[in-house]
Amino acid sequence: MFAQASPRQIAAVKLAVFVACLLPLALLARDAWQDALGANPIEAVTRALGDWTLSFLLITLAVTPLRRYTGWAWLGRLRRMLGLYTFFYACLHVGSYVGLDQFFDWREIAADIVKRPFITAGFVAFCLLVPLAATSTNAMVRRLGGRRWQALHRSVYLVAVLGVLHYAWMVKRDIALPLAYGLVAAVLLGLRVLWREQERRRQLAGAYLPKRKRVIPIVAKR
Ligand code: HEM
Repeated sequence: MFAQASPRQIAAVKLAVFVACLLPLALLARDAWQDALGANPIEAVTRALGDWTLSFLLITLAVTPLRRYTGWAWLGRLRRMLGLYTFFYACLHVGSYVGLDQFFDWREIAADIVKRPFITAGFVAFCLLVPLAATSTNAMVRRLGGRRWQALHRSVYLVAVLGVLHYAWMVKRDIALPLAYGLVAAVLLGLRVLWREQERRRQLAGAYLPKRKRVIPIVAKR
């Protein structure tokens, strides 16, 4: 039923997903407006935005397995938007840290990046996200060429690992959530490793397949 989708249906799904992705931000803005962010509102905002960055990253990484196992090819059309939303929430998360938490004290921020491993991991993850967002357009795919573009975009796997590390390093006691994120990331990255191995074996099997003997037609001499 969902395998085939018309361009109109795809456009409707894209619009619905676009609006849904703005919901976390709208809810956060509502809580801020109603003064319902708790005793430490700045921390609450930074944390909520961090959570959504990692969640969107994992949702983006889940698109390809979902497409593969359901056969719903159109799911691939949502991947770029979800990836850009990951970057959007990452910018807001980093922005809240830089502006609300550190008041643009660049010296303090630089010291934090050097001194605190969890900030270092987040910083590297963010730096890796920038070229991915910058090369997300069709024009950039063409300019870089499919292979180079794919090679560059593989760094998203490293971003996922660093994002989970960033979270795990930050928490002191309750590691249930970072562990859950880590588990989901491990499954999503593990699937890529599995598919690569399967592809390698298929190619290897193809290379060793005995060549078919040429059949020479026997033409009776007159
Ligand atoms: C320059 C880059 C980054 C900086 C400076 C940064 C900074 C922070 C800070 C300060 C917190 C803790 C807030 C607090 O407890 O007061 C935090 C939490 C978090 N960050 Fe980042 N971050 C960065 C990038 C990222 C990226 C790229 C991701 C995701 C891929 C991410 C995901 C998270 C998550 C999941 C949390 C924990 C949220 C929670 O406690 O529920 N961060 N970050």
